[in-house]
Amino acid sequence: MAEFALPANSKIRPGKTHKAPAGAKRIRQFKIYRWNPDSGETPQLDTYEVDLDKCGPMVLDALIKIKNEMDATLTFRRSCREGVCGSCAMNIDGTNTLACTKYIDEVKGEVKIYPLPHMQVVKDLVPDLNRAYAQYASIEPWLKTKSPAPGREHPQSPEERAKLDGLWECILCFCCATSCPSYWWNGDRYLGPAILLQAYRWIADSRDECTGERLDNLEDPFRLYRCHTIMNCTKTCPKGLNPAKAIAEIKKLMVARR
Ligand code: SF4
Ligand code: SF4
Ligand code: FES
Repeated sequence: MAEFALPANSKIRPGKTHKAPAGAKRIRQFKIYRWNPDSGETPQLDTYEVDLDKCGPMVLDALIKIKNEMDATLTFRRSCREGVCGSCAMNIDGTNTLACTKYIDEVKGEVKIYPLPHMQVVKDLVPDLNRAYAQYASIEPWLKTKSPAPGREHPQSPEERAKLDGLWECILCFCCATSCPSYWWNGDRYLGPAILLQAYRWIADSRDECTGERLDNLEDPFRLYRCHTIMNCTKTCPKGLNPAKAIAEIKKLMVARR
């Protein structure tokens, strides 16, 4: 997986240290970004000493243990704890990934946890995804047809369905978009790899009858063409998907129709 050096942020202060309970033998330090917009203070890095003998194996297990037993104010998103909802995406040990599928033992030494980079922060580890979801809505992520279905459904052959493999598995965690330098700098106009992979998922669907309109919607110097094939997105995806390839496929279709 790609690793990203987080920019040195002199505004992040050292925070509180929450000690492990007496008698704990296998202690690991978790250093976690904390920021509460209501406090009026700059962010701080709090330290939590977790007894790994009394904790599950995943980083999400440690976060839940910290919240339940050490500091109820720690705020993060999670839902499925199975790597299928995308809620627990965050930057762990310098890499964007899912806390629920990241083993604590994969990290050497202290476990540093920050929110996804270059997003506005709502609180602590919770990024503001409003813009990303507005961009998702802009690609109209649903089947669009013009002719009536021949029966109750629009049929698709197994071969046509196979073309969606590597696309439908995307869980919209935004690990890829927030590792993409183009999205960091132009995220207000560039759709980024997560949304473009989703756009291609509908373009590649044999049942969809609005491919031309979908391509028209992306034909723009910023929405599509800010991808410079840096490949951070593909290196980072915790589901092993290839957003850079999906973007390349859209660009090929753009050329083919000229
Ligand atoms: S390949 Fe494109 S989308 Fe992926 S990180 Fe690079 S610029 Fe961003
Ligand atoms: S392509 Fe991968 S990293 Fe990007 S949003 Fe989908 S699942 Fe997450
Ligand atoms: S909690 Fe759902 S992906 Fe981690």
